[in-house]
Amino acid sequence: MSIDKTPHIEKINGHPVLKVDGHPFIMIAGEVHNSSASSVQYMEKIWEKAEELGLNTLLLPVSWELIEPEEGVFDFSIVHGLIGQARKRRMKIGLLWFGSWKNAQCYYAPEWVKTDINRFLRAEVVKGKPFIRNEAFYGMPYSTLSYLCDENMRADAGAFGKLIAFIRETDSDEHTVITVQVENETGLMGAAREHSEEADKAFSSEVPRDFADFMHSNTGTMTHEVRLAVENGKRYGNWEAVFGTQAEEIFSAYHIAKYVNTVAEAGKREYPLPFTVNCWLNKPGEKPGSYPSGGPVSKMAEVWHFCAPNIDVITPDIYVPNFSEICDEYTRRGNPLYIPECATHSYAGTRELLCVGRYHAMCYSPFGFEDIGLPFNNSQMALFGIDVTDPALATPQNAENYGRISRILCSMMPVLTSEYGTKSLQASSAEVDKTACFSMGKYIINVSFPSPDGACLVLQESEDRFYIVVQSAYISFESADPKRPGIDILSLEEGEFIHNQWNCIRRLNGDEAVMNNHEKPTLLRAKLFAF
Ligand code: DGJ
Repeated sequence: MSIDKTPHIEKINGHPVLKVDGHPFIMIAGEVHNSSASSVQYMEKIWEKAEELGLNTLLLPVSWELIEPEEGVFDFSIVHGLIGQARKRRMKIGLLWFGSWKNAQCYYAPEWVKTDINRFLRAEVVKGKPFIRNEAFYGMPYSTLSYLCDENMRADAGAFGKLIAFIRETDSDEHTVITVQVENETGLMGAAREHSEEADKAFSSEVPRDFADFMHSNTGTMTHEVRLAVENGKRYGNWEAVFGTQAEEIFSAYHIAKYVNTVAEAGKREYPLPFTVNCWLNKPGEKPGSYPSGGPVSKMAEVWHFCAPNIDVITPDIYVPNFSEICDEYTRRGNPLYIPECATHSYAGTRELLCVGRYHAMCYSPFGFEDIGLPFNNSQMALFGIDVTDPALATPQNAENYGRISRILCSMMPVLTSEYGTKSLQASSAEVDKTACFSMGKYIINVSFPSPDGACLVLQESEDRFYIVVQSAYISFESADPKRPGIDILSLEEGEFIHNQWNCIRRLNGDEAVMNNHEKPTLLRAKLFAF
């Protein structure tokens, strides 16, 4: 295994970038529905769809129950099959470890864990009860493994360590698996913290001093409510004394993040791939427990940062309309934008451009990507938390356009990543604003979006040359230099990158250069002149 070639995160222009085989890589990805990757045969047609959509990576679950059906007996045949399928298509995989947590529940724990409730303790959401009835879980009782039970953590870490050792043995020369998400949407539903005797005892005991010190010296990046609680709390004391109104959620986050970190550590020891955690977002004003309490939501970022050093990126699952606000929130503390899940509706393509061009994202991946372009299943979308009354959100993404955008971005990868972390790469979309104005050196590039599917990414290649990826947008150019207010377009080409070389398909001039409205996703190269 050569360590430098192992997929890892490295800073380029001060910005964290994923490197695969020594080159910067953007995961133009799709996450499959939960059950798709339980069968290699079922996956065949899904890989084909991924190719049609121009993706370079799939995010695929590996479930604990399938790889360790009996304690200590492992079966990696499905994982092996998935890696083979990806290699055949020269695609990459981000694995998702469905271990102790999947959507704040223990659905994916093996039978031998689920049935031994005396050894593998369940969380007591209510004192003395290993499950509760909760409408949010579609009529099924809610139950999950306790985050305070070491036996749960040891068993999960043992299985995860074996999985990552298997990836090292099969894949450390080819690097098909490039990232691993540890657990899925961790947290506790129904209450802000566990309520067993042991939990009560831990909650009323002293907060570890190193953690209290860390929280007190990192208030600068905290969200408002957490900062207030920390600033108003005592320096040392029990959880309530130190963290006031936020104590229960911070207590859960502390224990869950430590648990996940132990699981991640068992994997990192075997093979140090980049590890992520994803979160089920909280809505403003929502109480912890209505969303999974203790999960890595942005207000718990500092807690996760302290407790889980083996986790490289915190990633949001975004199904809400205020998409770019969420992106802003999850790029605090130098956390790169990595979206493992978002909606497949009509904004999927424009958001892909936005994430790469504006946030210099590491990964963009609609969930259930197999459905891109298919008529909408409203009840399923509502279940995912998507507002199906908004027509833009109830319209499927045009699959052909999505494929064009993905292919353009993949072909431009070296050019794009060389400008990650700089102002030479910018983007906007109609969802953000009706107009955008990119100031780049001597020039200003004005864009207006006449329809909701408008988006534009601009990359400054050199002083006078620009690459522009555009869909449903009008573009015009302006000089930023008051001494040289005149401007000419010296050349405008529509084209593509083939093996990193620019290939001009059409020289645009006359009507095409003046109107500059491109309905289909198009890649342009412009040379400007200010005088
Ligand atoms: C978020 C989860 O992380 C996914 O696995 C999936 O269950 C989606 N929600 C859709 O329900």
